[in-house]
Amino acid sequence: MTAPILEVEAVSKRFGNFVALREVSARFEAGKLSAIIGPNGAGKSTFFNVVSGAFAPSSGRLRFQGRDITGAAQHEFARAGIAKSFQITNVFRQLSAHENVRVAVQMKRSRYELFKPRAAMRELAERASDLLERVGLAAHASRPAADLAHGQQRALEVAMALACEPALLLMDEPTAGMSPEETRVMMDLIVELAGERTVILVEHKMKLVMGICQRLLVLHHGEFLAEGTPEDIRANDDVRRVYLGQG
Ligand SMILES: Nc1ncnc2c1ncn2[C@@H]1O[C@H](COP(=O)(O)OP(=O)(O)O)[C@@H](O)[C@H]1O
Ligand SMILES: [Mg+2]
Repeated sequence: MTAPILEVEAVSKRFGNFVALREVSARFEAGKLSAIIGPNGAGKSTFFNVVSGAFAPSSGRLRFQGRDITGAAQHEFARAGIAKSFQITNVFRQLSAHENVRVAVQMKRSRYELFKPRAAMRELAERASDLLERVGLAAHASRPAADLAHGQQRALEVAMALACEPALLLMDEPTAGMSPEETRVMMDLIVELAGERTVILVEHKMKLVMGICQRLLVLHHGEFLAEGTPEDIRANDDVRRVYLGQG
């Protein structure tokens, strides 16, 4: 295995007496597309919340690119290069798609560009256009976010996450609520994005990720039950028992 971009060591997360994650450990290799799958309530979103810095773990360590980031503030996770898309809903509904992405780009860059307002604005606008193009929304740049179809709003959130230039992109159920056509478009986009950076998906629809991910980790009741290639997971009896049987 090459150097991992993210190492999770014996991480637990408790909510009161309830243990949502129980000493989970995992290593994620740079450049790979992985998915964490598991039934609803397994702890998948909690795992992402811990890995993105939204929740501090109750115990355990997190290392990103070799650096211990356990207990760092969420903006430090973002600055280190970890971005989470979905379930963030920080889209400004009345602003256009382009304005939303420009704001996201500006949050990443403003620190460096205080003294070149005109050139900086042009650069921000171009960068926002590039990102919209990247997610297939170039034709919808001037529409208010509120007027976009559901799948297009999700794509907009991806563009906003990419504005942070993350080395690690976390996507929580990226196709939730999408039509089959919207789902296909999003899955194609995910495969493209994964060609350029490390991507980890969370998904409860296992079939969806089987075809595109190099590695799957199965979370069940806050513990990893299995991990491996899609073939390994398909053949795993424990996984079949807790998961595949549910259809
Ligand atoms: N903020 C919270 N406070 C209390 N319990 C929570 C909180 N977040 C998640 N949980 C509980 O942790 C368990 C795992 O939730 P979650 O990580 O959202 O699962 P998944 O994303 O796999 O469906 C659930 O039982 C949920 O009710
Ligand atoms: Mg969830």
